[in-house]
Amino acid sequence: MHIDGLTTIVGVFGAPIMHTASPAMHNAAFEALGMNWVYLAFHVDPQHLRTALQGAREMGLVGLNLTVPHKILALDCLDEIDPEARKVGAVNTIVIEKDKTRGFNTDGSGFLKAVKEDFNLSIKGKRVLVLGAGGAGRGIAVKCALDGAAKVFVANRTLAKIEPIAREIASTKSEFQSLALTVDAIQKVIHEVDLVVNATSVGLKEGDSLGLGAELFSPRQHVYDTIYRPAETQLLQVAESAGAKVANGLSMLLHQGARAFEIWTKRKAPLAVMRRALRAAIYGDKS
Ligand code: ATR
Repeated sequence: MHIDGLTTIVGVFGAPIMHTASPAMHNAAFEALGMNWVYLAFHVDPQHLRTALQGAREMGLVGLNLTVPHKILALDCLDEIDPEARKVGAVNTIVIEKDKTRGFNTDGSGFLKAVKEDFNLSIKGKRVLVLGAGGAGRGIAVKCALDGAAKVFVANRTLAKIEPIAREIASTKSEFQSLALTVDAIQKVIHEVDLVVNATSVGLKEGDSLGLGAELFSPRQHVYDTIYRPAETQLLQVAESAGAKVANGLSMLLHQGARAFEIWTKRKAPLAVMRRALRAAIYGDKS
């Protein structure tokens, strides 16, 4: 990578615990297209997000990604919010122009592309169970409803966090049902659903388990885990042992990044290059 005075900079603002593979993916894409652009990661404390955004604009950055918790805080810090980002309640991509900042959300469209690619599944008319009601869970649940899911179930440990999702989905044609994140509650509905999505952080740590057994899954189901490290969570292992089709969150990370790339650069994202860079950064693959 060669950085000079004419280099165009995009970045990602993350919490100090941030561990992101996005720089590898975007920098590989810039290089493949011969662009003099660079993607840099910055640790930004949530309380300094507003001033950091101001600084980014003054330093001439042209765009940003945001990680948790900045995705939600940013709604109050930008000049314009794309309607979909407003609906899903989070911004993960920012375009910085001379006179204004604009926020977008590419996680939802990244998720839809991911399940299309991994399962050849379109959400329209499907029944989806989303586990988790944090930023990722909300984005996925609302995007499924916007894309014509017949029914969306959201299960969460903290029931109150499901309320804003229920309100948003009420304005779509999808049916909605909330439930507690317990085996009892889930086993009552899981046989109805085509797609189960884990959007909780359970599975990130070795030995983490949601407690869902193989008897809950069947070969007609698709199970997507937004977690990509480890590559196979306990949920995916169990679902796969029951014959369900399974995929992890790498494809969502790739497609949200590709969409962000296209928003910033107005060029088609080199998907194969980006996927290879992500796999190398996350799994150490050299293929
Ligand atoms: P993200 O933006 O990645 O979704 P988040 O907003 O912090 O991150 O959300 C984390 C999700 O994982 C939430 O649904 C959270 O449940 P609560 O809303 O009840 O906190 C869920 N989660 C985290 N740890 C959990 C655990 N040990 N058991 C069940 N759910 C858990």
